[in-house]
Amino acid sequence: MSEPNLKRIVAEKAVDDYVKDGMTVGLGTGSTSEYAVKRVGELVSSGFKLKCIATSQRTADLAQSIGIEIHDINDVPHIDVTIDGADEVDPKKQLIKGLGGALLREKIVAAASLMEIIIVDSSKLVEKLGVRTPLPVEVVIYGHRKTAYALEKQGCKATLRMSGGVPFVTDAGNYIYDCKFEAIESPFFLESRIDVIPGVVENGLFLNTANVVLVSHPDGKITIME
Ligand code: 5RP
Repeated sequence: MSEPNLKRIVAEKAVDDYVKDGMTVGLGTGSTSEYAVKRVGELVSSGFKLKCIATSQRTADLAQSIGIEIHDINDVPHIDVTIDGADEVDPKKQLIKGLGGALLREKIVAAASLMEIIIVDSSKLVEKLGVRTPLPVEVVIYGHRKTAYALEKQGCKATLRMSGGVPFVTDAGNYIYDCKFEAIESPFFLESRIDVIPGVVENGLFLNTANVVLVSHPDGKITIME
């Protein structure tokens, strides 16, 4: 099965299995999540009353373009279920997220969610976090090179994310450094070290965040990590 189809089938299954009429739903960001947003759009068109929260401006724009009303996260007591993608998933359901640049809002939305459902194809599965992708870290623009220097002291190569020849700027007006480790041996320890660096806003380690991970495989089967 082609990569777009693998993304689509896992996204549609997540929406079909976990989104019920009347829920408040968090909408993730990225190419896999886009299929989930489109499926949620179909539910709304068929009469479901959903309150939807977007994890990025990009997702809000897509959702609104297909008739989904987007609510302010501050106006809902909690989010019933959020469906989002990931860049890496380890055997304990620990994640790296943020290659799509939305890690800050994604983490806030995940923390406000009763259930975080992660949707990936099997290419995202790793034995150890960091082996496949860099760890995105969002930093304030002021003094960002100093912040990058402190990040590199944790054992990575930190590269400022660029877009169209200029630094990529997040929805919150920050920069992202993509921090490439050989492998992340102790994700909780690393997170505690990164979070105390002045200038760091958020990191892409999503630890003990996913309740369920749905994984699509090349043969079209979908497995569930619970
Ligand atoms: C965005 C994210 C995405 O969920 C992650 O990058 C996966 O994206 P895709 O489904 O396009 O591979 O964390 O910040």
